[in-house]
Amino acid sequence: MSYRIEIAQTKYITELPEISRVAAELFPVEDLPLALRSETNPIEVFEEALSEQKLWIAVDENQDKAVGFAFLSDKCGQLHLRELGVHPEHGRQGLGTNLLKNVIIWAKNQKYNQLSLTTFRHLPWNAPFYTKLGFKMIEQSKLNSCLNKLLDEESKGLDKSKRVLMSLNLNS
Ligand SMILES: CC(C)(COP(=O)(O)OP(=O)(O)OC[C@H]1O[C@@H](n2cnc3c(N)ncnc32)[C@H](O)[C@@H]1OP(=O)(O)O)[C@@H](O)C(=O)NCCC(=O)NCCS
Repeated sequence: MSYRIEIAQTKYITELPEISRVAAELFPVEDLPLALRSETNPIEVFEEALSEQKLWIAVDENQDKAVGFAFLSDKCGQLHLRELGVHPEHGRQGLGTNLLKNVIIWAKNQKYNQLSLTTFRHLPWNAPFYTKLGFKMIEQSKLNSCLNKLLDEESKGLDKSKRVLMSLNLNS
């Protein structure tokens, strides 16, 4: 298999909601209820991230197809990872890690100070995966009201006690 990571090109973005949908099947039903797992971000959200140049994709070069993506938004005065997803058929080959590494290099070059995200605490491909890349969990009592609201929004329909906001210091 041969892959490349790049800032997204328009021709690949129609493939991204489907990657999001199948990647969601990795979550146990008790964490991500069935009713929520088909609720992918609509194509317009990917188009907006593309227009802001804040969307990265992993392309399977043999099939010329997108198989993973990461996209960002400015939230609460800092940079926020809105979604990271890799098609399970291409999982565990380092694509998720490489997408994030590309995002981090770009964010440092853009002089952002922090990169935040929200995730599940207990699933190995969530908080422990981000911890390996240097992200730290910020407990809810330490979040400002904007980040607390963001955690709430991104945990809608989920058990909030299993959710956490994580942040990476981009200056270190
Ligand atoms: C999270 C995700 C993007 C990781 O993509 P990936 O390409 O498989 O990631 P990597 O190959 O770089 O894996 C890095 C490490 O994460 C952990 N990991 C990833 N997938 C895992 C799985 N299914 N089970 C257990 N650990 C897993 C492992 O520690 C892995 O390292 P290893 O393979 O050397 O053991 C992918 O699993 C995914 O799309 N998940 C569903 C959506 C999601 O959880 N997004 C992030 C939520 S905030």
